[in-house]
Amino acid sequence: MDGTPSSSPLTGAVLITGASYGLGYELTRCFAADGHALILVARSGDRLRTVAQELSQAHGVQVDTVALDLTQPDAARMLFEEIQRRGHTVEILVNNAGFGTYGRFSDIDFDAETREMQLNMLTPTQLTKLFLPGMLAQRRGQVVNMASMAGYLPGPYMAIYFATKAYLLSFSEAIAEELRGSGVAVTAVCPNVVATRFQETAHNQAAYIGGRFRPLMADAPTTARQAYALIRAKRTVAIPGWSNRLAVAALGLIPRALMRRAMVPFQKGPDIADYPKAR
Ligand SMILES: NC(=O)c1ccc[n+]([C@@H]2O[C@H](COP(=O)([O-])OP(=O)(O)OC[C@H]3O[C@@H](n4cnc5c(N)ncnc54)[C@H](OP(=O)(O)O)[C@@H]3O)[C@@H](O)[C@H]2O)c1
Repeated sequence: MDGTPSSSPLTGAVLITGASYGLGYELTRCFAADGHALILVARSGDRLRTVAQELSQAHGVQVDTVALDLTQPDAARMLFEEIQRRGHTVEILVNNAGFGTYGRFSDIDFDAETREMQLNMLTPTQLTKLFLPGMLAQRRGQVVNMASMAGYLPGPYMAIYFATKAYLLSFSEAIAEELRGSGVAVTAVCPNVVATRFQETAHNQAAYIGGRFRPLMADAPTTARQAYALIRAKRTVAIPGWSNRLAVAALGLIPRALMRRAMVPFQKGPDIADYPKAR
């Protein structure tokens, strides 16, 4: 673990994972513009320090950074203990870091899928468990989980990724109800496809949904601003953009058997072979 502890402990800070690039970076800009102290977490320590400098210069906010690989099974506890050691208190936890694997389930390396499930599900779950008692003691706080519109659908050729987002959405909605009246809100953010490094990491650019759709994809700054307004409003489910909210409502009307079949042409790139037909 790496990071330059800020000179003084931060009170009521926003801790955001995956803050170096993409949606996480854009969200940090929204929080900083509103005057929040920030703790930025990702693997790229140098990039985090650059972002921290940019935000503190632009908005006069205190920013601390922690460089950590959150796919490690003990990463959540390591991060929590480091935050305690630095004396910070976290008021808003944003579990944003995530990535997707792409291809036929039978072909994808299970180690990569294990890291994906750890980063997208287990680490956010454990971070929530660790930071929640402090928020409950203050009767104040918010957990923001970066799910996806993928959480509403089965995703052939990104089966594990879509399933991790369905988990995060369901988990967030469930604990939001448990926490009702406690002063702690839970928000699952569900963006549509957004042009970020995500597609490069997932290697799904040959598929319509990952690359050929790129001119139609939303941009990260707009999506983050829309998400931020819904986060501030403490929505339990935050779907950025009215057309996406309409699309999710329409999805509920489509039979699931039809929907999963309809996903195939969007998800299956020319680089993915069919299985030989069974005799
Ligand atoms: N882009 C989309 O279409 C889309 C749509 C819906 C939801 N989402 C979700 O939005 C979130 C952010 O994705 P994005 O599109 O902004 O992707 P991105 O541009 O690839 O950013 C991912 C962020 O997560 C960090 N990260 C990746 N692996 C990590 C690890 N092992 N440990 C710690 N941090 C790690 C990255 O920083 P480092 O590389 O420095 O570690 C980066 O800051 C993800 O949860 C994704 O599933 C994306």
